[in-house]
Amino acid sequence: MVKAKVYIFEKQFDGFPKSGDLKIIEEELPPIKDGEFLAEAVYLSVDPYMRARAQFLKLGEPFIGFQIAKICESKNPEFPCGKHVLGFFGWRTHTISNGIHPEKDRKSTLIPDELNDLPLSLSLGVLGRPGNSAYFGFLEICKPKEGETVVVSGASGAVGSIVGQIAKIKGCKVIGIAGSDEKCKWITNELGFDHAINYKTEDVDAVLRKLSPEGIDCYFDNVGGEISSTVIHHLKKFGRVSICGAISGYNETSKVKSIYRPIISNELTLEGFLVARWVDRWDEGIKQNLKWIKEGKLKYRETITEGFENMFTAFTDMLSGKNFGKAVVKV
Ligand SMILES: NC(=O)c1ccc[n+]([C@@H]2O[C@H](COP(=O)([O-])OP(=O)(O)OC[C@H]3O[C@@H](n4cnc5c(N)ncnc54)[C@H](OP(=O)(O)O)[C@@H]3O)[C@@H](O)[C@H]2O)c1
Repeated sequence: MVKAKVYIFEKQFDGFPKSGDLKIIEEELPPIKDGEFLAEAVYLSVDPYMRARAQFLKLGEPFIGFQIAKICESKNPEFPCGKHVLGFFGWRTHTISNGIHPEKDRKSTLIPDELNDLPLSLSLGVLGRPGNSAYFGFLEICKPKEGETVVVSGASGAVGSIVGQIAKIKGCKVIGIAGSDEKCKWITNELGFDHAINYKTEDVDAVLRKLSPEGIDCYFDNVGGEISSTVIHHLKKFGRVSICGAISGYNETSKVKSIYRPIISNELTLEGFLVARWVDRWDEGIKQNLKWIKEGKLKYRETITEGFENMFTAFTDMLSGKNFGKAVVKV
C-alpha cells in the first residue's frame, strides 16, 4: 500500500500566507485500476497564481499545482512506467491519475524525450507555462518591432526573465524592473537587459524618464499596482501592454496616478491573457524556447528548494521575492 503525503488547504489565507494555513496529511492510496497510473513527485512548482486562486479553492482539499512525477505503476498504455509526466496533481508526493482533466491545459502530458539532455524541472519553467506565458504573452500581444523600447516588471522572475531575453532576441531595447540590486545586476550582466530599475530603492518614474525620454513602446506587466500605473504613463502613442499578472495586488495601494489619462490620450492597447489561450500552439512555444536555449540566446535560472516538507517555505519565499528565475521544489 502506497502512502502519499498531501498538503491540505486548511485555512483561507488572510494577507500573506501563514504556515498553519496548509497542513500535511498522509493518505493511503488504493491499488490502481485499468486506465490509471501511479506517479511519484520529483519536482513541484510554486507559483504566484496559487496565492491568487486560493480564494476560490475549497477548504479541506489538496492544494493546487503542477508537478513533474515519475510513473511507477501503470495500467494506461499512454503513460508507461518509468516515464516522467507533467500533471496538475497538487502538492502531493504520490498520485493516482488517468491523465484526464476537464481543462485542456491541465491534462497530463509525458515529458518529451527531446528534453532528456536538459534538467527535468525546466518543464515547470522556461520549457513550460512560464516560458510559454513569456513567448506568447509577449510576442502575440506586444507585437514588438526591432528598435522599440520594452519595459518588463517582475523582470528577474520565471516569466519576466524570459520576456526580457525574447525582447532582446527581437532587437528591442529592454528595461527590467526588479526588487533588488542583485537581481538588477543579474538581468543586465547575465541576461543582456539594457537597463534595470530596483523598484525598492529607485524612483521608477524618474529613472524611466531618464532612460527613455522619448517614451516606451511595450510594457509586459507581471506585477500591476503602483509600478504599472507609473510605467503606463511612459507609453508612447499606440503603445501596447500585455497584462500577465498582478502580484503586487496583496499590497494595499497608496496614492497612485490614474492610468486612464494615458490609456485614452495615447490610444493604448492593453490586453490581459491567460496562457491557456495558446494551448493548441503549446509545442511551438516550447520548441522555440528550447531552440533559443540550445543556440545560447536564452538563459534560464532556477531557485530549487530541497524537500517536500519545505514546499510552504518555497512558496512564501517566492511570494516575497527570494527567487531568481523559476521557483521549484525537489522532493
Ligand atoms: N496570465 C497567465 O497565464 C500567467 C501565467 C504565469 C504567470 N502569470 C503571472 O505572472 C507573474 C509572474 O509569475 P512568475 O511565475 O514569473 O513569478 P516570479 O516572477 O518568478 O516570482 C514572483 C516575483 O514577484 C515579485 N514580487 C513579489 N511581490 C511584489 C510586489 N509587491 N511588487 C512587485 N513585484 C513583486 C518578486 O520579485 P521582486 O524581488 O522583483 O519583487 C518575486 O520573485 C505573476 O503575477 C503571475 O501571476 C500569469
